[in-house]
Amino acid sequence: MDINLTFSQISDAANEAYQYARQQKGGANANYIPYLANIDSGLFGLSVMLPDGRSVNVGDTGYRFGIESVSKVPTAILCMRQTSPQTILQKIGADATGLPFNSIFAILLENDHPSTPLVNAGAISACSMVQPAGDADAKWKAITDNITDLCGSAPVLIDELYKSESDTNFNNRAITWLLKNYGRIYDDPAMSLDLYTRQCSLGITTEQLAVMAATIAAGGVNPLTGKRVFDSGIAPKITTLIATVGFYQHSGDWLYTSGIPAKSGVGGGVLGVLPGVLGIAAFAPPLDAAGNSVKAQAAILRFMEILGLGIMNGDRVTVAADK
Ligand code: DON
Repeated sequence: MDINLTFSQISDAANEAYQYARQQKGGANANYIPYLANIDSGLFGLSVMLPDGRSVNVGDTGYRFGIESVSKVPTAILCMRQTSPQTILQKIGADATGLPFNSIFAILLENDHPSTPLVNAGAISACSMVQPAGDADAKWKAITDNITDLCGSAPVLIDELYKSESDTNFNNRAITWLLKNYGRIYDDPAMSLDLYTRQCSLGITTEQLAVMAATIAAGGVNPLTGKRVFDSGIAPKITTLIATVGFYQHSGDWLYTSGIPAKSGVGGGVLGVLPGVLGIAAFAPPLDAAGNSVKAQAAILRFMEILGLGIMNGDRVTVAADK
C-alpha cells in the first residue's frame, strides 16, 4: 500500500504522542550510577527528522543527557566504515543474546563471539577494533569525529558521568578480561574498556540523535550537512543490529509492538530508525525494569500508531514536500 503523508501530519503526530507519553508515570532513573540517579526525572524530549532535513522537536530536545548504550550504534558504524560489515560479523557477530546488556553468561554461552556490537561485550570489542590501533587519543578522536559526522554537531563529554562510570564499571572489567581470554579484544584491554566507558559518558541531545537516526534512515547521508557519512550498504546492517538487539531481552516485544527498530540507553535516550522514511529520538530518565525509558518508548510507539507506520508493513511511505 502507498502511504502519502504531509509534514504537518508528522508534526501533529509527534505533538500528540508527546502529550500522551507525558502522562506515563512509571519507572525510575537508573540508580547504579550516582550521576544518572540525580538527573531531573521530569525531563522529556521528542525529536523527529526526515531524510530531507525537515524536523520536529517537542519538549526538552536541547537537553544534553548521557548517551550511554546508544553510543554502541555509532561505534559499530565506525568499525564497519573502517573495515566492513563482513569483518564485524566475523570478529564480533550479529546475534541477539536474549539476555541483559551486561550479561557475562551470554559470553560463556557463545564463547567464540561476543554476539553483537550492541551489547556491552561486543561494544567493548568494537572499541578495541577502532583504528588506529594502540593510540588511545587517535581512537577517541575517531569515535567522537564519527558521532559528529552522524549528528552534524559534536557530542560533549560529561566529566562527572565519566568519573561515576569509571568508578563503578566492575562488571565491564570482568567482561573485558573474559573477552581477552577468548581472543576477542583486538587492542589493549584497559584502553578498550576506557574508550567504551568514555563513549557512554558523552552528552547528547534528542535533536542530535534524531539527525543520527535520520542519517541511518537516509542510507548514510546526513540530512543536516548533506555529507555522505557512510556507504549505503552499511545502513541495512546497522538497522538489522538495532532491530535484533536494540532493546536487549525485550527486542522482539518492542519490534512486534512498535514496528520500528530502536536502540535504548540507561541515560533515558532511545533512537529509532524507519529506513527511507525518518529518524526519531526521545529522552526521559525514568526506566522500566529492563532499563528502557518509559516515556521515550511510549512516545515512539504512539507516534508510529498514529501514523500507521511499521517496518514490516510493506508500505511505500512518502512525505509530501512543503508547499
Ligand atoms: O556499560 C554500562 O553499563 C553503561 N555504561 C551503559 C549501559 C546502557 O546504557 C544499557 N542500555 N540500556
